[in-house]
Amino acid sequence: MSVIIAPSILAADFGNLQRDCEMVNNSKADWFHIDVMDGHFVPNISYGMPVIKSIKKHAKKPLDVHLMIEKPERYIEDFAKVGADIITVHYESTIHLHRTLTQIKNTGCKAGIVLNLTTPVSVLEDILDKCYMVLIMSINPGFGGQKFEDVTYNKVRKLRKMIKDQGLNVLIEIDGGVNATNAPKLIEAGADALVAGSFVFKSDNPTKTIEDLKNC
Ligand code: DX5
Ligand code: ZN
Repeated sequence: MSVIIAPSILAADFGNLQRDCEMVNNSKADWFHIDVMDGHFVPNISYGMPVIKSIKKHAKKPLDVHLMIEKPERYIEDFAKVGADIITVHYESTIHLHRTLTQIKNTGCKAGIVLNLTTPVSVLEDILDKCYMVLIMSINPGFGGQKFEDVTYNKVRKLRKMIKDQGLNVLIEIDGGVNATNAPKLIEAGADALVAGSFVFKSDNPTKTIEDLKNC
């Protein structure tokens, strides 16, 4: 199975959202990565339901919705309603994580957990079997265009081992500073899905950049 590529719409041109959605549709990308930020959990504000609804109108691939918001349990049904296919919530953002994952699954969406850079993968030990995916942040969340942190490789290896030891089939996704240099190393460490924002949308030929990542 080849690596899943999820271009991050945060780096798209919001004045040409339909054009950029079509680019992703017509590329080798697998998912649309959608970053929701509330100005509390992270210091930045991105976009919410109306924009996701507009993306959904054009997107022909699943929407991977990454919630960087406090108490995401308040909005799960709303995000499902506007078209999310996968919803990931931060371990650090919700007190009753098990309940929040169940809430996501009850909407029909696939559920995942996101870990901040300094949150160890060991916290997932007793909840891993409830996850479709774990997203490991390779930057401090909040902004695109930041530098990839090398601590990520070891976290991916540890998590891959934990998944294997438990006999599970959980996807590992990486988000932040992904490029053609770190992508092969991430795949080798055990990553299944790569989010890429700036590297794709700020490149001269985003379609080709996606293809290059896919072929890593
Ligand atoms: C940042 C977001 C990322 C961001 C990645 O908090 O979660 O998805 O868009 O952007 P790049 O690939 O530019 O680091
Ligand atoms: Zn993200």
